[in-house]
Amino acid sequence: MKIQSVRGVKDILPGEIAKWQWVEKTAHEIFSRYGFSEIRLPIFEKTALFSRSIGETSDIVEKEMYTFDDRGGDQITLRPEGTASVVRSYIQHKMYNPPSLLKLYYMGPMFRYERPQAGRFRQFYQIGAEAMGSASPLVDFEVMTMLIAFFNKLGLKDLRLEINSLGCPDCRPAYRETLKSAIREHLDELCGNCNQRYERNPLRVLDCKVEKDRQIAEGLPKSKDHLCEVCQENFNKVQSMLDTAGTPYNINPKLVRGLDYYTRTTFEVTSENLGSQNAICGGGRYDSLVEEFEGPSTPCFGFALGMERLISLLDSEETDGLNSKPDIYIVCLGEAAVSHSLNMVHDLRYAGISVERDYESGSMKSQMRKANKMQAQFVLILGDNEIQSGKYNLKNMDTGDQIEVSANSLLETLRSQLTG
Ligand code: HAM
Repeated sequence: MKIQSVRGVKDILPGEIAKWQWVEKTAHEIFSRYGFSEIRLPIFEKTALFSRSIGETSDIVEKEMYTFDDRGGDQITLRPEGTASVVRSYIQHKMYNPPSLLKLYYMGPMFRYERPQAGRFRQFYQIGAEAMGSASPLVDFEVMTMLIAFFNKLGLKDLRLEINSLGCPDCRPAYRETLKSAIREHLDELCGNCNQRYERNPLRVLDCKVEKDRQIAEGLPKSKDHLCEVCQENFNKVQSMLDTAGTPYNINPKLVRGLDYYTRTTFEVTSENLGSQNAICGGGRYDSLVEEFEGPSTPCFGFALGMERLISLLDSEETDGLNSKPDIYIVCLGEAAVSHSLNMVHDLRYAGISVERDYESGSMKSQMRKANKMQAQFVLILGDNEIQSGKYNLKNMDTGDQIEVSANSLLETLRSQLTG
């Protein structure tokens, strides 16, 4: 029986993994410079955590969660995102004590039963970051800036930062009603989905993808024009900090995001090179979520980026050199050479040199072919003469140069040649 992977789920193969590791390493480096610490969270949680935080009427909760009863009868969901788990963990471990701004980041797989297409998977990886415990717009600015620094470090180009403000529990209810009355006028022109959204989640009408609805949405009232004084002031400050730092951005009044927990600033980073799934990253402020889960008042700001989309944007010039190649390939001719090589190979590897060898006792020609294929930097041929004399020929495969080294100086020579 031939079994294939599940639809919408993909293997990340060894040929690609160097890029993934590079992106992850860069995230660790940049995020820690901004004071973020890594947190590792469970891949599954109680279903209620997601349905209550992301919102009962969101697409994710209504149709995309992988939910099942475990053998004890608990309702479990494979995480569709990371923010809810961070909030759960923050409260559970009382990370609000002592009160201070806590900055966390995470990376790992998420699961959504969406219709698979280019850039959209059912298991996908995110890197996310959450700054918890401050309502200051400086946090919004800094977290977005960190993200842009990270994208720049990876050499990503032609990205757009789009921002919006969705208001807060003080101004959103009135805006929602204003929006609903405006939508009511167009109900018979809007798609079936938007007719349902009108009652339960009217803001989502603004980001409907149906062309006719998009035109109607242009004329609907936008949250940024219905903000209370505090929200307006915050949004102004975020913009003026971005202006001062010279960070380009666009205000996109239709950016409402698909998760219900957002308040005030929301943002996305998009790329024209991604096709229809053009968001590489999304996030924003969620000032009430910790309290909704019975934690202390903790305003938060965060984002998550999609790894598959990010990886697809990497310039091959930046990443060509990433795949690991052996420093040295040891060609063994005969049984005595294999035996002699055992400790030699081990000692070199232990000292930090990457060593490849042949496992099949092939001919000299076949071993050289393998060394070439692996693009080993050096080749050392080990035969009876070399074992007896304790002197080896080290061949630089790039230049073709050969040097003679003694057994004692092999490691030292390799080190100097590899770094030089
Ligand atoms: P999100 O917009 O649902 O936000 O997802 C963030 C990013 O994950 C998207 O911009 C996209 O790059 C990637 N992504 C989402 N779904 C898929 C999919 N099916 N296949 C491939 N990539 C996908 C969140 O998840 C929020 N938790 C972000 C956040 C953190 N907000 C505050 N803190």
